[in-house]
Amino acid sequence: MKKLKKVIIPAAGLGTRMLPATKVIQKEMLPLAGKPIIHYIVNEAIKAGFTEIILVTNENKISSESYFETSFELETALSKISNKTLLKEMREISNLKAKIINVKQNKPKGLGHAILTAESLILDEPFAVILPDMIIDSNYNLKNLALMKKNFEKTQVSSILLGKCKKSETQNYGIVKVKNKNSKNNFLEINDVIEKPNPKKAPSNLFVAGRYVFSNEILRYLNKEKPDLSGEIQLTGALYNFLKDSKTLKGLLLEGDIHDCGNKLGYLIANLAFSFKDKKIKREVLKFIK
Ligand code: UTP
Repeated sequence: MKKLKKVIIPAAGLGTRMLPATKVIQKEMLPLAGKPIIHYIVNEAIKAGFTEIILVTNENKISSESYFETSFELETALSKISNKTLLKEMREISNLKAKIINVKQNKPKGLGHAILTAESLILDEPFAVILPDMIIDSNYNLKNLALMKKNFEKTQVSSILLGKCKKSETQNYGIVKVKNKNSKNNFLEINDVIEKPNPKKAPSNLFVAGRYVFSNEILRYLNKEKPDLSGEIQLTGALYNFLKDSKTLKGLLLEGDIHDCGNKLGYLIANLAFSFKDKKIKREVLKFIK
């Protein structure tokens, strides 16, 4: 039985929906209630038990690479002014309980291509993928991906996390068709994955919520995937062919709220939701809105 140690976080996309904020900075470095989005994502991976985190970044943008490194200059300055709280917080960022490895995707050629960029670090092991623009409430860090990891280590079966959307919103997501809606252990059996279907053609309202756990086999399918009309290699295409070969893929229903930080409205709502964890901020913001 193989253990899951590695997780890939693809963060090399163009972020066009968030321009101009993302012109020189990757969207995963934008702040959410005072911390870069990537910080929450890396914490989620560590809480789930991953020990090797592979960040795929874009070589033309300011990325999270140096965020997780020690900043001696800053630490010296904070020591001088005796700001112990901030110093501790800064040290925690660079002393994580996981190894962070950075790889560069030479061009934004799609999510599938971003995953393949990390192939030489995965070798023959299973791995997880977290899409960093999909943020899940951190109170649920021991559910979701953590449960998918546990399930893989017991069964060696790949799985993805599923959220529920309004039927009218299916064209914004990858939507799945499931076999057994009333499965006993919470893991549903997936029959098909369709990219952004029209609500009339969507087989369900269950969308792929940006968390995946894969046996190494998926790399073979990704390597066979041809670029689509926009020149991108898509993960959905590889999943489609994986399922067509009768391979098993399970789906776990998401617990907690999820926010899409890849668009301006979702990002704003996520900022409110995360900031509201601080009661004082919540009170003041609600007063202002009134
Ligand atoms: P998205 O399609 O949501 O991100 O990809 P994007 O392409 O950056 O956004 P828009 O559509 O232009 O606004 C999902 C995840 O995959 C990563 C993105 O960074 C994002 O976290 N990605 C996407 C890559 O790492 N490389 C790519 O070539 C494409």
